[in-house]
Amino acid sequence: MRHPSGQAHMNDQQFDRIAALAYSESGIRLVREKKLMVQSRLRHRLRALSIDTFSIYADHVTSTQGIDERRYMISALTTNVSQFFREAQHFDMLCDALLPTFRERIRTGQRIRIWSAGCSNGQEPYSVAMHLLSLEPSLADADFRILATDIDPNVIAFAQQGKYAPAQLKGVPKSHLHGFTMAHPDDGGDRVMSERLKTVVSFRELNLFDDWPMQFPFDAIFCRNVVIYFDQPTQERLWPRFSTRIRPGGLLFLGHSERIAEPGAHGFRSCGPTAYTKTAPSHFNSR
Ligand SMILES: C[S@@+](CC[C@H](N)C(=O)[O-])C[C@H]1O[C@@H](n2cnc3c(N)ncnc32)[C@H](O)[C@@H]1O
Repeated sequence: MRHPSGQAHMNDQQFDRIAALAYSESGIRLVREKKLMVQSRLRHRLRALSIDTFSIYADHVTSTQGIDERRYMISALTTNVSQFFREAQHFDMLCDALLPTFRERIRTGQRIRIWSAGCSNGQEPYSVAMHLLSLEPSLADADFRILATDIDPNVIAFAQQGKYAPAQLKGVPKSHLHGFTMAHPDDGGDRVMSERLKTVVSFRELNLFDDWPMQFPFDAIFCRNVVIYFDQPTQERLWPRFSTRIRPGGLLFLGHSERIAEPGAHGFRSCGPTAYTKTAPSHFNSR
């Protein structure tokens, strides 16, 4: 249906179809109170497809031919708010717990891996990289990588470019701005992440509810401010999967309002605000 304003209007039934699809595709839970937000975020998809009504859009996006549109729809519905050095106490915890191990691994040529799961525009993995490289510069020449993944292809493309406006760089310590970013030649104030950072951080599109192709254990997983968009049963599906991917003694960090209800049931022990140590053996061997 079209509103007198000429804009497409979404009714409850159309909202429910779209919300059910978003849930089954991405785990994101959309409640009816979000209808106006969903309507406004998807209007540009209707315009892009020259579709007049949400009824036709819902038919299209749920059909077999709608496979590409489902990706755009999820991208439009994700909330990508992030910032550099958000909840920075986790970076200190990471270094306090694991830097000695990392130094030993550098010495013996072993792999060091961190995963930023739900990395949005890249501020989180670049912050982890800056923090670790500033404390241990020899990581740059070691077998050290940060995998950064997100379901939203637009944020992955942005993060790969690694170019941020001054407002987005708020939170980056001055010394890191000079040490790890360069002024962008074209525009006033924008800065680009250095090649040193870009070599360490690899970005990939990945839905957390698809198969995970990574065949090695992580030393730490950051999955912060992501599961807040999922309901409890959906969150519970993730904990055992994260648990199998973290080395014993490794760390899982969640966002400030996120919790594992029963950490012990998944081989975790709480070790600080929204931080968990993996206590049980990993699914993968330790190399
Ligand atoms: C609010 S941002 C959090 C960014 C960063 N971790 C932080 O704390 O600043 C949430 C991110 O989770 C991603 N996301 C939501 N559902 C996802 C899923 N099923 N698989 C992978 N990423 C997902 C969104 O695209 C979004 O970029």
